[in-house]
Amino acid sequence: MNIDGKPYRTIWLGDDGVSAEIIDQTKLPFALEIVPLRSLEDAAHAISSMQVRGAPLIGATAAYGVALAMRADASDDGLDRACAALAATRPTAVNLRWALDEMKKELTALPQGARVAAAFARAGEICDEDVETCRRIGEKGVGLIQAHAERKQGERVNILTHCNAGWLATVDWGTALAPIYRAHDEGLPIHVWVDETRPRNQGASLTAFELGAHGVPHTVIADNTGGHLMQHGLVDLCIVGTDRTTASGDVANKIGTYLKALAARDNGVPFYVALPSSTFDWQLRDGLQEIPVEERDPDEIRFVQGSADGILRRVLVPPQSSPAVNYAFDVTPARLVTGFITERGICRATEADIRRLFPEK
Ligand code: MRU
Repeated sequence: MNIDGKPYRTIWLGDDGVSAEIIDQTKLPFALEIVPLRSLEDAAHAISSMQVRGAPLIGATAAYGVALAMRADASDDGLDRACAALAATRPTAVNLRWALDEMKKELTALPQGARVAAAFARAGEICDEDVETCRRIGEKGVGLIQAHAERKQGERVNILTHCNAGWLATVDWGTALAPIYRAHDEGLPIHVWVDETRPRNQGASLTAFELGAHGVPHTVIADNTGGHLMQHGLVDLCIVGTDRTTASGDVANKIGTYLKALAARDNGVPFYVALPSSTFDWQLRDGLQEIPVEERDPDEIRFVQGSADGILRRVLVPPQSSPAVNYAFDVTPARLVTGFITERGICRATEADIRRLFPEK
């Protein structure tokens, strides 16, 4: 998508052909800084420090991380060590494991001398495939918004989203935001309620930034506002992303998603989850018991980051001595999900309907 009229992806091969470049998302929306990744350590740091984040982009970065690692050590041991180091960076997004498995599948059978070139080629393909997958999610999901627009006869359709599941969370297009971009580009009258998404504020800083850069009307709201808006008929549908969804349809996504799904159910508002098939964990059935929920540094709760003058500052909010705990994700049970928007179409949140779309899994 565009920033100031210039098309960007979130990750790409560097001009030297042996590095990757990313947009440092910890600096947005105040600065657009491009950071080169030259080693396995750079890639692992980019993921764990959340310079890159969002399930599909974590996977794409891990793929380049393996390619970078192959330059230093293309042995079987080197491959295993790289995959283990990258797998340990963040636990919830299953796209990370998916991408590492793809890289291993590609490289294991090759002689060491062929691995660097093959690894960069496969990492590039994973990125291109992600762009196409997300484009299709937009194509399959836009009809939902269109249906609301027809019902409302020209009045704007209000869509609520949580966290950032836009192009910044993928390689391009996004998941939850892909149907939104598509609807906007087709001229449908839409407006997006953007949950700020404490503690790291990916909604306020990233979703608002990318929607604004593309010209999509939106309003940032405090995380606790969604229920009130739904009670007053101000939300037509919710669309969120996910970091891991079980074969039975339980959805792990950014902390607070579950509360939005509860409010949506209580108010009869459709609650959709948009995801590429690489975000399904086909081995799991009980999301609450089986999906690992990342716990991050409590300082992300205690401090808020922002800027009034272009310089990023962190400000302490609670008393210095108060402890905090930082669960990064929660699990929304399948029964609260109206449907999944995937690259193959829309299905209900049941194992049978998911497998109807993905019979080979
Ligand atoms: O902690 P983050 O910023 O990586 O969390 C991102 C989310 O929760 C997104 O909703 C999810 O990854 C979907 S990505 C298209």
